[in-house]
Amino acid sequence: MSRLPEHIAVIMDGNGRWAKKQGKMRVFGHQNGVGAVRAVSEACAELGVKYLTLYAFSTENWNRSQMEVDALMKLLSRTIAEETSTLHKNNIRLNVIGDVQRLPKYNYDALMKAIEETKNNDRMTLTLCLSYSGRWEIAQAARMIAEKVKRGELQPEHIDERCFLNFLQTNDMPDPELLIRTSGEERISNFLLWQLAYSEFYFTDKLWPDFGKDDLYDAIINYQSRERRFGKTTEQLNDK
Ligand code: FPP
Repeated sequence: MSRLPEHIAVIMDGNGRWAKKQGKMRVFGHQNGVGAVRAVSEACAELGVKYLTLYAFSTENWNRSQMEVDALMKLLSRTIAEETSTLHKNNIRLNVIGDVQRLPKYNYDALMKAIEETKNNDRMTLTLCLSYSGRWEIAQAARMIAEKVKRGELQPEHIDERCFLNFLQTNDMPDPELLIRTSGEERISNFLLWQLAYSEFYFTDKLWPDFGKDDLYDAIINYQSRERRFGKTTEQLNDK
């Protein structure tokens, strides 16, 4: 418990394959994925993880069939309606990052309401990445910086890493120490490209709907066995 990651990020993958294995539609996998979202959120809050960030819908996911996109949007709206009071009761703050203006208005409005309702909660921040991609986020940050420079509010020589991260949507959270990806895929898939620079990656073959609390504990225990050097040598770390 003394070496718990403060921030865990998750690429929830494998819903479609989970459904296919049972001869069902992809949407059935997403519906069952919500159970895993609940289990992992609960486990993180119980342990004392302060930030949990879930890749729920990528910018690229807009290219899926209209039927699947519609089903995911409806599922999102139902989940917000059903789960917000539980989040609130458990002192969890809901947060969203991504190009949320692209979401259907009913989802956007429901999300904003849930975010407002839970904004003062401080046990854990649950961030849903919706219509999100890391390159999009970095390009947005560059655009905001350029606008500030154009208005004369920022000098180019003052743009460094510390300055840049203020323009990212994650500017109020620490970088994730641990990234988990399910379903056997070992890619970053345009997730938190800036923020994952020094994160430990944990991959598991489990498909997302099958991922439960024990799987999360396995990932954390695995993370705790690693030495994080941040570019230093083991000897330098031990000299501290
Ligand atoms: C990846 O599986 C999963 C998604 C693209 C959507 C994730 C959504 C959920 C877990 C449920 C909804 C979440 C919330 C927060 C309401 P995939 O479809 O890429 O699976 P595949 O790789 O097997 O095809």
